[in-house]
Amino acid sequence: MIKEEEEINRICKEVIVSIRPDDKEREEVKTVTTLIIANLNNKASEMGINARAISVGSTARNTWVSGDADIDIFIMFPADMSEEDLKEKGLVLAKSVSERYEERYASHPYIHAYFYVAETEYEADLVPCFEVKNASMLKSAVDRTPFHNEYVVTRLSGLEDEVILLKQFMKCLGIYGSEQRRKGFSGYLCELLILEYASFVKLLINASRWQYGERIDLEGHGNYKGEDPLIVIDPVDPKRNVAASVSLYSFCKLIDAARDFLAKPDQKFFMPRAAESMIHAEILKLVKERGTEFVMVTFEAPDVVEDILFPQLRKAETSVRNLIERNDFRVYRSDVTSEGGKAILVFELLVWQLPKIKKHMGPPVTSEVHSEAFKNKHSQPFRIEDGRYVVEVQRKHTDVVSLLKHELKSCSLGKDVSESVEKGYEVLKTEEILVGLGYFFSGYFGG
Ligand code: CTP
Ligand code: MG
Repeated sequence: MIKEEEEINRICKEVIVSIRPDDKEREEVKTVTTLIIANLNNKASEMGINARAISVGSTARNTWVSGDADIDIFIMFPADMSEEDLKEKGLVLAKSVSERYEERYASHPYIHAYFYVAETEYEADLVPCFEVKNASMLKSAVDRTPFHNEYVVTRLSGLEDEVILLKQFMKCLGIYGSEQRRKGFSGYLCELLILEYASFVKLLINASRWQYGERIDLEGHGNYKGEDPLIVIDPVDPKRNVAASVSLYSFCKLIDAARDFLAKPDQKFFMPRAAESMIHAEILKLVKERGTEFVMVTFEAPDVVEDILFPQLRKAETSVRNLIERNDFRVYRSDVTSEGGKAILVFELLVWQLPKIKKHMGPPVTSEVHSEAFKNKHSQPFRIEDGRYVVEVQRKHTDVVSLLKHELKSCSLGKDVSESVEKGYEVLKTEEILVGLGYFFSGYFGG
């Protein structure tokens, strides 16, 4: 183990130099941040708006990975202001300090703006929020963020490199980011994990032994009751699990990679894999070798943000999967994606065709009342199997495509997905796999 420890330390030392922002990058980010904040505060007093801007997120605590600086600035408004006022004034103010920007949407709208320093482009999120007394009195989900900053900024001092290593490790595993599409670890969560375990390597040693439902409570004040793979109580809000977005997959992926890295430390764990795209012929060849069949449901992606779309797509996936299996077909694996304005439910099938004949089970023969009702209802000849009546009926759909073409709308699909499906959808088989899904399938088959 001593040899591995030395090797791990050597690797971490080498890696951190290449992923830690250098002095120049830090200085520039600081300059831009200070400038934006000053502009926002000046404009606010010019416009007679009662608001003040603060720096939060990884750029406020020097925990961003070099090249990934996304400046987070929160504009705090008095808590007694109305939602509409906050939205209107917040956006006007944010727009007034940048020439190039777009309006984006999380739990409420914010501005994503572009700034330039010495030819370098910097991107910043300018987010209006309420300045509430404490994080449990929040009026909107983003109101916790200033408290996070306050909590983390002093405690994390000196541990920045550990956080940066952890973020890069997770990015390379594809489990960094709490968006619904990814369901991984957020930046704030990475920081809390480092506070708990004190270093990147100690976190990995602990993670390699994590059990489902692992609970971390830095302040020992949690009253979160939910069941999740990982529970990390928010130090500023005892009711919240900061790791609620971590899927079972992301949780296990980290455990597995931690064991691998500790046993065979290697720089490659910190090197992003270039995204590969599979060509159509490759996909078809692979599916042929597997002997399975793909059936995909595609429709226009509803015009909602991914954090709203993906939970609905997963709900639709489960519900369609149940429909398929209730009809005696067998699903091997399934997934969802959204590419080029289309939403797609993907099912890989072990059984996608069935004979016309279908067994319909009746009541136990010993149950006289039910037996009579059953025999009155069914005119076809019946037989007795394992003590029960059985009749043979005709299967309505002998293949999955026909089933989905006719019965998809009976599934519970989620509001926006359902509305989009109502307008029309297509059911495609392996040969009809859409071009543009090359990256999806590369991930699907690559694990
Ligand atoms: N935040 C949160 N929960 C999330 C996303 C964000 O509480 N699921 C809050 C955190 O306080 C976080 C801040 O919003 O620090 C900014 O979010 P983000 O930019 O996504 O994360 P960073 O911590 O800045 O990490 P990075 O930008 O380096 O990925
Ligand atoms: Mg950030």
